[in-house]
Amino acid sequence: MRNLLEAHGLTKSFGGVVANRDVSFTLEEGLIVGLIGPNGAGKSTMFNMLSAVFPPTTGEIKYKGQRIEKMSSYKVCELGISRTFQNLQVFKNMSVLENVMVGHHSRTKSGMLAAALRFPSAKKEEKIILEAAMEQIKFVGLEDLYDVNAGSLPLGKLRLLELARALATKPELLLLDEIAAGLNHIETLEMSELIKRIRNKGISIFVVEHDMDLVMGICDKIIVLDQGMKIAEGTPKEIQNNEKVIAAYLGEEAEEKVEVIG
Ligand SMILES: Nc1ncnc2c1ncn2[C@@H]1O[C@H](COP(=O)(O)OP(=O)(O)O)[C@@H](O)[C@H]1O
Ligand SMILES: [Mg+2]
Repeated sequence: MRNLLEAHGLTKSFGGVVANRDVSFTLEEGLIVGLIGPNGAGKSTMFNMLSAVFPPTTGEIKYKGQRIEKMSSYKVCELGISRTFQNLQVFKNMSVLENVMVGHHSRTKSGMLAAALRFPSAKKEEKIILEAAMEQIKFVGLEDLYDVNAGSLPLGKLRLLELARALATKPELLLLDEIAAGLNHIETLEMSELIKRIRNKGISIFVVEHDMDLVMGICDKIIVLDQGMKIAEGTPKEIQNNEKVIAAYLGEEAEEKVEVIG
């Protein structure tokens, strides 16, 4: 199995707070890899480094052998890495189809401006983009809602829209940020099935989740963070039985109880 992405010794500090400390791991081609850990463990910070929201303080990220840790998020997307957002970033006054097409423009030659001005080159691309967008909308099961305003969709459908938009850029690696947050049990199961279908298309996936259940059901490999450090890595079964992991999550539960009582 080929390594698609390699993270070497990633550390990220915000002033005095060390959000990630010397974290290393690899994402292999064709796998679903999960990153879990209690609140404040450093998951979002790691996700933001991989998706080039900000660079690490120290450490390297290699994608297919190429250093990417200082690249822009636009450039990283061009290389084939696409992401979703935990706090959904959809355009509420645009339709489902338009939202997905916006995602696609980021990878095309004429780009958004040319598309808006309707240059001839853009018109031809427009048709291709439209077809590609509809293909992804169908894939996630939103075809009946393609011309509905995104602002009127419930959370579960918005998460599907986010996925369709990320897929429209034709990624090789898809980064999912708490994709099941706020979903009910059935929606979470459906999301698990959809993520597996994406993997079966040959797209490698990295999921960041606070919730253990989704991750246990779909991941080939799980990396666990606690207090910024990697404390475990292995198959779902290995992680479930790992004492450090159990202690980290139990510690969090204990903290939550203290909050309720206190
Ligand atoms: N922009 C920031 N400025 C200061 N501290 C931050 C910032 N982002 C995250 N942190 C801190 O880094 C730690 C890890 O946060 P985060 O990556 O959001 O964890 P998680 O996503 O696992 O809950 C926390 O202590 C958090 O308060
Ligand atoms: Mg987070």
